Amino acid sequence: MIDLRSDTVTLPTQAMREAIFHADLGDDVFAEDPTINRLEAMAAERLGMEAALLVVSGTMGNVTCALTHCARGEEAILGDASHIFLNEAGGISALGGIFPHTIPNLPDGTLQLDQIEAAIRADNIHFPRTRLICLENTHNRCYGAALTPDYTAAVVALAKRRGIAVHLDGARIFNAAVAQGMDVRELTRGVDSVNICLSKGLSAPVGSVICGSGEFIARARRVRKMLGGGMRQAGIIAAAGIVALEGMVDRLAEDHANARRLAEGISRIRGLATEPDRVRTNILYIDLVDRRFTDEAFIEHLKQKGVLLSHPGPARFRMLTHHGISEADIDTAVEALGAVMGEKIS
Ligand SMILES: Cc1ncc(COP(=O)(O)O)c(C=O)c1O
Repeated sequence: MIDLRSDTVTLPTQAMREAIFHADLGDDVFAEDPTINRLEAMAAERLGMEAALLVVSGTMGNVTCALTHCARGEEAILGDASHIFLNEAGGISALGGIFPHTIPNLPDGTLQLDQIEAAIRADNIHFPRTRLICLENTHNRCYGAALTPDYTAAVVALAKRRGIAVHLDGARIFNAAVAQGMDVRELTRGVDSVNICLSKGLSAPVGSVICGSGEFIARARRVRKMLGGGMRQAGIIAAAGIVALEGMVDRLAEDHANARRLAEGISRIRGLATEPDRVRTNILYIDLVDRRFTDEAFIEHLKQKGVLLSHPGPARFRMLTHHGISEADIDTAVEALGAVMGEKIS
């Protein structure tokens, strides 16, 4: 199967399996797991933050940060296409009583500065207090768009001026850094918290890391415990995460080239629409313009030809490239799509 549903389907590499086998372990609730302590120190340094904390998933990372920033009844400003708003089971409100205030995401994943400014509440007893602005880099729903350092700096400056924190959902922040040819610190500078995922393009089996100031992470540690995320000998997870950070970042460029190749191939198939020029990282969307098939039939036909994709909305499909997908797989997937649409690709 050529599985393009997500980069979360990546399997741990041989080096990760060996690191897991040999990991030094301890009880992390007592902060005594040496492998976790090493991963957290490495992640903090890599992201230019003071401290870090291993969490189970990207979703847990985002909700832990939001609950650490905001009290019940306080408000977070976030994009209407953000993963936190759309795909995290409403956790920030269900678990934290945080009021989500959405504003539109532009196609490049940004939130317009004047719209952020306008969304910030005045100090008035009728209003919730605005405590947090959430950004997402790369932006999953916006074709994996990478936010730039200048944009992030502008949001940080606005937030500081208004006394509000900035959380960065950086599930794929290394894709953003590699795509722009820069150190990841350029993209985290000034934010109050960041969440990175080890188990997506970086191929670790489990885990995300949140980073922030020492004081923030100390408070987040309590929130993580409350959420049931205090893990014990989780150095077996961290060991793979260390290999991910040390060895799996630079190769993301291959995934980006493959995504572009995939989009270019698909753009030549009649009945399907995609936007190759928007593909900068490892995510693309296709629209089924020719309505000969139902969405389900389209997915099934492709599956019969050995290709899997995800289905985020009517007539819309998502594909992600990753470590398990080669350039040859891309060409096979394009052929399969062409065959399904009843057309030979020249
Ligand atoms: C942008 C973004 N943030 C957060 C997450 C959540 O990560 P997890 O699936 O590990 O909970 C995802 C998952 O796909 C994501 O794409």
